[in-house]
Amino acid sequence: MNRKNFTLVKFLFSFLFLFASVYATLAQDAAEGETLFKNNCAACHSSTDEVLVGPGLKGIGERRPIEWIVKWVHNPQAVIASGDKYANELYNKFNKAAMTPYPNFTEGQIKSIIAYIDASNAAPAAPAAGAAPAGAAAPAAASSGGMMEVLLVGLLVIMVFVLIALLSIVSTLSKLSGGEADSEAPLMKRIAENAKKLAANSAVKTGIIIFALLLGGKATIDAAYGVGIHQGYAPEQPIKFSHKLHAGQYQINCNYCHTGVYEGKGANVPSANICMNCHNAIKRESPEIQKIYQALENDEPIQWVRVHNLPDLAYFNHSQHTNVGNLECKNCHGDIEKMEVVEQRSTLTMGWCIDCHRNTDVNAKGNAYYDKLVEVHNKDSKTPLKVQNIGGLECSKCHY
Ligand code: HEC
Ligand code: HEC
Ligand code: HEC
Ligand code: HEC
Ligand code: HEC
Ligand code: HEC
Repeated sequence: MNRKNFTLVKFLFSFLFLFASVYATLAQDAAEGETLFKNNCAACHSSTDEVLVGPGLKGIGERRPIEWIVKWVHNPQAVIASGDKYANELYNKFNKAAMTPYPNFTEGQIKSIIAYIDASNAAPAAPAAGAAPAGAAAPAAASSGGMMEVLLVGLLVIMVFVLIALLSIVSTLSKLSGGEADSEAPLMKRIAENAKKLAANSAVKTGIIIFALLLGGKATIDAAYGVGIHQGYAPEQPIKFSHKLHAGQYQINCNYCHTGVYEGKGANVPSANICMNCHNAIKRESPEIQKIYQALENDEPIQWVRVHNLPDLAYFNHSQHTNVGNLECKNCHGDIEKMEVVEQRSTLTMGWCIDCHRNTDVNAKGNAYYDKLVEVHNKDSKTPLKVQNIGGLECSKCHY
């Protein structure tokens, strides 16, 4: 391969990688944007042009300059007060409904929300661009998470086409430059030969290695994020104890068995003695109940398999949430009273704790301790006091 061809191949490959990485970044952005949008904006905005509490945000990136959007999201009331004509007209059109300010959102985060809105509106077009394989994946496009995949498959298809085009360009070029290419050879053979030549090219080799490293890196990062997430974990227990029966049908209070849940850090899993309050009379003959008797006779605790388990570095306190925060068990555990076997419903990641602390109002009613805080807070903020405002995002509150 002569030098000109070599440069061309190098150029095309850099272009391809640039394209791929830009695309990957966009996909990543849109995925982050989806979470931010759903957690913060979806209560009042649709990503289409449908009007909810506020206007549909479809095309917002074209409708308004990004600087304006950032200012607006950070503090809508300030933009209105500054006399901004557009903002005031919109505000009046929506009957002076006040949008929540998001002063902590970075420009990057706001851009990712816009990227998500754009991507979700581009969704129906994606299968067409992605040709045949994307067609098969089209039903998945119903959810926007699936849509991202369709787009990525589309990208892959495009990349394969570009690669084939590249190979044939190289083939033609090498013929033009007096290459030995045998025009009689079948197409597949020529492609194979050119691929072999390409593989021998050091620029191409480097390219492939970089690509493999990128893929490997991404897989590692994904795996790292996945480590320790046990959402959906529902181990079999040594005794077929059913919450559906006890907490659902017989409506035994959660704290009858989980005695610490309103007073202490841990909720406690009940000892066999608590079961005996009833089972010394109820269903004694059942083999499952016999296991409770056995545990008591051998003076061994029942070996319940732990379902929810934070790593030691994190501190979580039940009473702070159930008693002070007035949250219900189901906010974090789902409908336990409908479960035959307990399943972990939340991710229990740091992001999960933080998300809720950002979004949840402090339950300050009838709590004199908060009166002063609320008063101070309301002086310079229009939003109600959130958990983040009382230190719910401070590292040391959750980490020893
Ligand atoms: C509590 C409801 C509410 C929430 C939550 C909310 N908005 Fe709004 N938003 C509104 C209302 C209402 C308007 C219309 C202007 C007004 O009345 O203040 C608006 C207007 C806008 C506009 C201008 C729209 C246009 O057509 O020019 C943008 C951009 C916007 N919001 C972005 C966001 C983003 C991004 C989020 C999430 C981070 C968000 N909003 C969360 C209620 C909300
Ligand atoms: C009659 C006693 C009893 C009652 C009432 C009861 N539980 Fe349990 N709970 C248990 C036992 C025993 C276990 C351990 C075995 C298991 O996981 O099923 C358990 C386990 C759990 C776990 C999982 C613990 C872990 O290892 O992570 C959660 C969460 C839980 N219960 C929540 C509740 C909630 C919420 C209620 C009320 C709606 C409730 N329980 C009512 C006895 C009870
Ligand atoms: C407040 C009373 C009460 C307590 C406390 C209680 N149970 Fe029960 N349990 C019942 C009742 C009522 C039934 C249903 C009996 C029936 O079907 O006739 C039952 C049924 C069961 C069954 C199904 C038995 C079978 O073969 O059908 C198991 C297993 C069981 N309980 C385990 C436990 C364990 C383990 C504990 C302690 C963590 C416990 N129970 C605590 C009231 C209780
Ligand atoms: C704010 C979220 C949240 C709420 C609300 C909540 N839990 Fe939990 N629960 C957790 C977390 C997180 C863990 C894991 C704790 C750990 O590993 O240190 C857990 C663990 C448990 C366990 C396992 C034993 C233990 O103490 O670690 C039980 C049982 C339990 N919860 C029961 C309940 C009951 C019953 C309620 C309602 C009265 C409730 N939880 C409300 C988040 C919550
Ligand atoms: C469903 C919402 C929710 C989830 C999930 C949640 N929290 Fe909270 N958290 C609250 C609320 C509400 C309060 C405020 C309680 C109060 O009024 O003091 C709070 C308060 C706290 C506080 C005290 C903050 C302070 O400054 O007083 C700590 C520490 C805490 N949470 C840790 C955690 C950890 C760790 C997790 C995750 C394992 C978690 N929380 C998950 C809602 C939540
Ligand atoms: C509301 C509670 C909360 C706050 C605030 C919080 N964390 Fe965490 N953090 C957790 C929980 C729960 C985990 C364990 C779950 C997990 O690994 O995702 C964790 C895990 C971690 C880990 C280990 C990650 C891993 O994958 O093992 C690091 C490092 C960390 N936090 C640092 C911080 C720093 C730095 C801050 C302050 C900027 C902070 N955390 C604030 C709850 C919190």
